[in-house]
Amino acid sequence: MTMQELKTLQSESLSHIGAINSLKELEDARVTLLGKSGKITELLKSLGGMDPETRKTFGQAVNDVKVQVQSALEDKKTALERAELDAKLATETVDVTLPATARPVGKMHPLSFVIEEVEKALSELGFDPVEGPEIDTEFNNFTALNIPDDHPARQDHDTFYFKPLKGENERRLLRTQTSNVQVRAMQNMTPPMRVQAIGRVFRCDSDLTHTPQFHQVEGLAIDKNLTFAHLKGVLQTFLTTYFERKVEIRLRPSYFPFTEPSTEVDIGCIFCGGNGCRVCKHTGWIEVLGAGMVHRNVLANGGIDHTQWQGFAFGCGLERLTMLKYGINDLRLFYDSHAAFLRHFGKPAARI
Ligand code: DAH
Repeated sequence: MTMQELKTLQSESLSHIGAINSLKELEDARVTLLGKSGKITELLKSLGGMDPETRKTFGQAVNDVKVQVQSALEDKKTALERAELDAKLATETVDVTLPATARPVGKMHPLSFVIEEVEKALSELGFDPVEGPEIDTEFNNFTALNIPDDHPARQDHDTFYFKPLKGENERRLLRTQTSNVQVRAMQNMTPPMRVQAIGRVFRCDSDLTHTPQFHQVEGLAIDKNLTFAHLKGVLQTFLTTYFERKVEIRLRPSYFPFTEPSTEVDIGCIFCGGNGCRVCKHTGWIEVLGAGMVHRNVLANGGIDHTQWQGFAFGCGLERLTMLKYGINDLRLFYDSHAAFLRHFGKPAARI
């Protein structure tokens, strides 16, 4: 090869490398020029057969070409790799200004958060939560509460009874009221005491305003010198805290077998402010709970001496409290499991 041909090889190689656009082509070019039997490699091999004088000058020239080609290959490689990375970065950018994908978030059922609200309001008044069984004895649900066997109140409750088990002489039932916790609480605790019980109760009726399962909250206080005034004060504070506004209350004489005297408690209609509307049936008042001073027979069944201690108790339906506070107008919505109901009336769970 002449010096001239070497120059041509050099310029052609460099311009070929300059025009390359992919790493694959670049590798091919490297192999063609500098690989085991590449053009430049072959030239270097041929130096051995030359006379020393020519070898010196030609060898030097070939080596220069090799160094230049090598560095051109390296520069090109760096450039191509950088371009490839830039292209990747350009297509894979994350647009942080895009709105995030909305994920449906579960909500708490209104009854569940009302249970929490009621429990908190009564706890602030010193009523400790207790639990009673949903399947209980006739004694705890009725007899101990001064409702004798032939008492019409037993029929009022439309009770679900279980068949007595072998050897059992007392029937069991699904409790019809949370009042079933009263006697057990009195038997298990020593007065003074203030307890609350919230839970499911069952009655076998079902229509527009009744479901076979619903919820009640029960309050029971036993102390010395307890009077009706204490009961009224507790209810006033409880209802004001629960409804988160000033509510007026009105007590009407009533009858419950387990309290004497007994009262039904109304609140001034929170929808019309007492002027009369559809919800309060134009009376200005809405009935919310039953209450009274614990009957001495009930105290006796709980092992409490009525000459030393007095008690007051109250009970009310949670569905009703919930409907009034949150403007839900159909009882059945609570149990229909419609997602739309939960989306509207449910409460987002507290974030941790
Ligand atoms: N247990 C009654 C009911 O289911 C409600 C009630 C009334 C509970 C008066 C009480 C009370 O503790 O004193 O209708």
